[in-house]
Amino acid sequence: MSSGQDHRELPMRQRQPVTDPHAAQTSPEQFASDVQYYLTLNPRQLPSRYFYDALGSALFEAICRLPWYRVTRAELRLLEAHGREIFERAGRPTRLVELGSGSGDKLATLVESGRSGAGPLDLHLIDVSPSALVVSSRALSALNDVDVDVRIVTHEASYEAGLLEATREAWGAGPTLVLFLGSNIGNFDRPGAEAFLRGIRARLARGAAFLIGADLVKGERELLLAYDDPLGVTAAFNRNLLARINRELGGDFDIERFAHRAVWNREESRVEMHLVSLAPQRVRVPAAEIDFTIEEHESIWTESSYKYQPDDIVRTLQQTGFECVRQWIDAGDGFALTLVKAV
Ligand code: TRP
Repeated sequence: MSSGQDHRELPMRQRQPVTDPHAAQTSPEQFASDVQYYLTLNPRQLPSRYFYDALGSALFEAICRLPWYRVTRAELRLLEAHGREIFERAGRPTRLVELGSGSGDKLATLVESGRSGAGPLDLHLIDVSPSALVVSSRALSALNDVDVDVRIVTHEASYEAGLLEATREAWGAGPTLVLFLGSNIGNFDRPGAEAFLRGIRARLARGAAFLIGADLVKGERELLLAYDDPLGVTAAFNRNLLARINRELGGDFDIERFAHRAVWNREESRVEMHLVSLAPQRVRVPAAEIDFTIEEHESIWTESSYKYQPDDIVRTLQQTGFECVRQWIDAGDGFALTLVKAV
């Protein structure tokens, strides 16, 4: 969106979400070249952002409702209970930017519970999943019915490209709150998380607020159930990545001969997700120009979910250009929301 139109002139009910045509989308060529690169690394890997095609996004929404995956509910409870304080302490932002907005539920909960006073709110939704953007912008538009005047802009893009678009000068200079929820920070390794946070800081004006949700270290049994549930939904979510490669890149993965495995790596403080080959087998993915044999028990590493200690989060943010405003912890489910400001 670069027309400079003032959407505030539109009557609220007519307001349609705006899609940013400049945001970098994930192309089939990029998918093919990432699959080629990561699948031939040792150990073999696949980047987790490709989980979220339409089916993957739907499976992830199902994961969020599983009794064993408590991240989403714990975070929603904190947002609901402390929404007002978050808005106050964030400096009454008029622009909210969510990195990886998914279903939009968390943002809707925060706005509903926290927003007070008049004036329009700009909501920027950044996600790699076009289907999630459709669902979330529709859900958030409903806020206009509960007396919150929102303008929604969607960015089908990676976090960085989306944030760049969302914070461009032309989008107005009101106080900004960037949200990075769902413990998505846990999907970076520690150096990657620090580099990512520095990158975010570099895009923000001094004083801008940043709210981050992170899952905490807890017992192994609880952690493993969250990533390997008895209904097999997480397994389906993980294996769908192979199905997606078959669908979109003409691959011939025999999906039934790959098992979902979650492992708690205590030394690294992370849950690892793997797809383990149940037999020696040949795999071809023509569009990615790969043809290889994978051994029995050999795995494809698809995701890590790092778990934090509460002070770890604060320290990491302080080292990357932020000062801590407040932290809220759900001790029962082991989850922390941390609000910081760019210094
Ligand atoms: N960000 C989520 C997390 O790490 C993503 C997630 C939940 C996930 N369950 C998963 C990723 C299973 C891969 C497999 O908690």
